[in-house]
Amino acid sequence: MILTGAGQIGMAIARRMGYGMKIIIGDKSKEHAEAIANTMNEAGFDTVPVEMDISVRDSILSLIEMAKQYGDIRMLINAAGVSPSQASIETILHVDLYGTAVLLEEVGKVIAEGGTGVTISSQSGHRMPALGAEIDEQLAMTPTEELLKLDVLQPVNIRDTLHAYQLAKRCNVKRVMAESVKWGERGARINSISPGIIVTPLAVDEFNGQRGEFYKNMFAKCPAGRPGTADEVANVAELLMSERGAFITGADFLIDGGATASYFYGPLRP
Ligand SMILES: NC(=O)c1ccc[n+]([C@@H]2O[C@H](COP(=O)([O-])OP(=O)(O)OC[C@H]3O[C@@H](n4cnc5c(N)ncnc54)[C@H](O)[C@@H]3O)[C@@H](O)[C@H]2O)c1
Repeated sequence: MILTGAGQIGMAIARRMGYGMKIIIGDKSKEHAEAIANTMNEAGFDTVPVEMDISVRDSILSLIEMAKQYGDIRMLINAAGVSPSQASIETILHVDLYGTAVLLEEVGKVIAEGGTGVTISSQSGHRMPALGAEIDEQLAMTPTEELLKLDVLQPVNIRDTLHAYQLAKRCNVKRVMAESVKWGERGARINSISPGIIVTPLAVDEFNGQRGEFYKNMFAKCPAGRPGTADEVANVAELLMSERGAFITGADFLIDGGATASYFYGPLRP
């Protein structure tokens, strides 16, 4: 198994699915990778921490080469990312959008028959209005090295870091649709999960950032009335990655306590 992003969501899914497997844990932060690897090894998992950067193709290729030394790659969990309060527009586009696209592409070239993957998108992408068929297709199909040259992704067309994050997450969902066709040719499946507010270090940075009140109000007024946990995201991932999800591929699953529903048709309406 390859896990990119040694955060709470990634670990929760890896713990649910990674029993009996060698798990390669890649993260830009060596400390994060080692901390999650130690926690998991102490709980009976077999992990190796690796410092890497999903926004750099060579770094992804090295990670894949390393994983292949242990056998076929049967699972991918991509939970690496930066949030609107953590990074610049440029970094968000490079990591969340381009990095995810390259990772899905490169793992898709080597994934084993029967393999499965999930990538973590976000409810944030669901709050953005429709972009239209033409832009959707560009986000889905443009070759990875051309992606960041698209008009819609030029800084002059992006309002702020939240807008960049929403575009990145919308792109993730479109890429998963397009990639699922290629993964399917290898007998493998790939899906996306769009979580709402899940309490993790990344979410805590948002609570303490400039949109903190907005996020706290969002979970207080959503139908569930609370933020979610990484283990609840793992519940969805378990369905998608196990045999029970054998007919699900190229799909995106929103798990947000109803926040998006309320944003469009309830008390969270702006
Ligand atoms: N927590 C939430 O409320 C929430 C909601 C929706 C979506 N998400 C998404 O879930 C994913 C996981 O987030 P989390 O909440 O578990 O956060 P987290 O901060 O616990 O984990 C994210 C990890 O990604 C790593 N990372 C950042 N840039 C990287 C890069 N270039 N290469 C490799 N690793 C990198 C970080 O070091 C960190 O360890 C992210 O894509 C995030 O956008 C989170």
